[in-house]
Amino acid sequence: SERSYIMIKPDGVQRNLVGEIIKRFEAKGYKLVGLKMLMVDRGLAEKHYADLSSKPFFSALVDYIISGPVVSMVWEGREVVKMGRTIIGATKPSESAPGTIRGDFCIEVGRNVIHGSDSVESANHEIGLWFPEGVAEYESSQKAWIYE
Ligand code: GTP
Ligand code: MG
Repeated sequence: SERSYIMIKPDGVQRNLVGEIIKRFEAKGYKLVGLKMLMVDRGLAEKHYADLSSKPFFSALVDYIISGPVVSMVWEGREVVKMGRTIIGATKPSESAPGTIRGDFCIEVGRNVIHGSDSVESANHEIGLWFPEGVAEYESSQKAWIYE
């Protein structure tokens, strides 16, 4: 089954949005298989956003991600990468629809509360980077009530 790497950024943690964000993924029907809170070191933040290293905002982005604890998660379910991005909303909060996490809870692109993998390929890469110890392998008792 497909998995996505979802991370509540330091502003999301400080603004007490952890429960609200987890609630949205849980209620949709996705299965939580990895969860931890950690302070990110600069090296890991730079690796995570390596594709953006040439952008003018890169150092501000890394400073933001290491500015406080994050909540690192792996969610599993059908098309969770694409649907996770839909639940999260557009990168710029000015363009993210009400009803999405970014549309509901933030104003600035540099404080946009949450990360979600943008493809199955990058999800697998990010899960390896953030959860080298692996995730929880289990079957949800709700499976038959969520999938036909
Ligand atoms: P992530 O889920 O965090 O990867 O966001 P995204 O996939 O919607 O956007 P992208 O990967 O292009 O950018 C990664 C992050 O960099 C964004 O979520 C923002 O936090 C930050 N970012 C992107 N564009 C800008 C910008 O123009 N200015 C600033 N300050 N930050 C930006
Ligand atoms: Mg991205």
